[in-house]
Amino acid sequence: MSNTEYNSRRPGFYKLSFAERRAQLDPGKLLSPEEFSALAGDGGLDVEQADHMIENVVGTHNLPLGIGLNFLVNGSDVLVPMAVEEPSVVAGASFMAKLVRAGGGFTAHTSQPEMIGQMQLLDVNDPATARLAILEKKTELLAEAGEIDPILKKLGGGPRDLEVRIIEDSPIGAFLVLHLIYDVRDAMGANAVNTACERLAPQVEAITGGRVHLRILSNLADRRLARVRCTVPLEDLAFGDYTAEEVRDGIIEAWAFAAADPYRAATHNKGIMNGVDAVVLATGNDWRAIEAGAHAYAARDGKYTSLSTWGTDVEGNLVGTLEMPMAVGIVGGATKVHPTARAALKLMQVTTVAELAEIIVSVGLAQNLAAIRALATEGIQRGHMGLHARQVAIAAGAEGEQVDKLASQLVNEKTVRIDRAEELMKEWSQ
Ligand code: MEV
Repeated sequence: MSNTEYNSRRPGFYKLSFAERRAQLDPGKLLSPEEFSALAGDGGLDVEQADHMIENVVGTHNLPLGIGLNFLVNGSDVLVPMAVEEPSVVAGASFMAKLVRAGGGFTAHTSQPEMIGQMQLLDVNDPATARLAILEKKTELLAEAGEIDPILKKLGGGPRDLEVRIIEDSPIGAFLVLHLIYDVRDAMGANAVNTACERLAPQVEAITGGRVHLRILSNLADRRLARVRCTVPLEDLAFGDYTAEEVRDGIIEAWAFAAADPYRAATHNKGIMNGVDAVVLATGNDWRAIEAGAHAYAARDGKYTSLSTWGTDVEGNLVGTLEMPMAVGIVGGATKVHPTARAALKLMQVTTVAELAEIIVSVGLAQNLAAIRALATEGIQRGHMGLHARQVAIAAGAEGEQVDKLASQLVNEKTVRIDRAEELMKEWSQ
């Protein structure tokens, strides 16, 4: 990250035309013409590439790609590509990133990129004895796992530890679970971990006399965490008729609701994932893995709760944190094959997976702030409806300047509905 031409403060960017925005996007020409067109044009994934990615391909499926602005992460400016279909998400994250910027930006870090591979060991005579027999051979098993992926080994990755758990209570009685802890460096790591588990299984069976059943990574990647914190200066929170204290305390009360109640926590965390998934998707990463990890982590203490926290510092400023598993990669899979994903990573100038994870959690925290700030004050519908109205206008057949005209009319009438939009279109065409 870090290149002065890529200042992510772009005042008025949203007011520019599509063409003007594109012209401003890459001032230092970081992207080649092909990369630029993959990110900000119509040169994304072609059907031939798509045909090699999955089965039964008949086409591709597009999403809008917007740029999250104002992000300052660990002192570096970053333009954040976000692929998402929902209005307000990009605007909300960008606005909150601006407030956070005034407090010094986002401070983020990650743990080691360690994934967990699971092996389910059945049919052992005595689970406790089998557990110790495996642990006695830990060095040999890790050495064997270390030879599987020479490239990862060269990059400093590979197996780190082997843990054995006894699951006492299951519908089929007790069994063992081995956790192979595997440092996957800049990869998402599914292939490396699954291969390692499959390779070790016969040895584990020989040691214990048992039967290794499942061999697969866990999406509860709680050894591969990304963490971020931010401060919003108190005075920057005031807006409209709301005092800064009212906004700050309203945000903290909103968070307390999510911290205490799983029904609210699910929606609160969905707001975080609006931002997280948009970057995960733009970079070609597996958003289902990130979703699974996030929600399992939110329930790690036996009760589903908020992934973020909000409070105050000694000066009364608003402070927020977010911690969640972040199993993303920047090598391999769609991150390398999908032209838009490659260009998205290049635009962000990330060189390590840790940098990408740090940006993603920053966007998640900004998105969470946008949602609960709105909910704690004027409600979500006001801002949302303005943007939603544009979609309704387009759905009703509006084009060009008509889109904004029709959207404003719908908002003014407080009737953002397709039937009314179509009615107006009909009236205007007569
Ligand atoms: C909508 O996509 C997300 C929100 O519901 C999040 C929240 O309630 O915190 C607005």
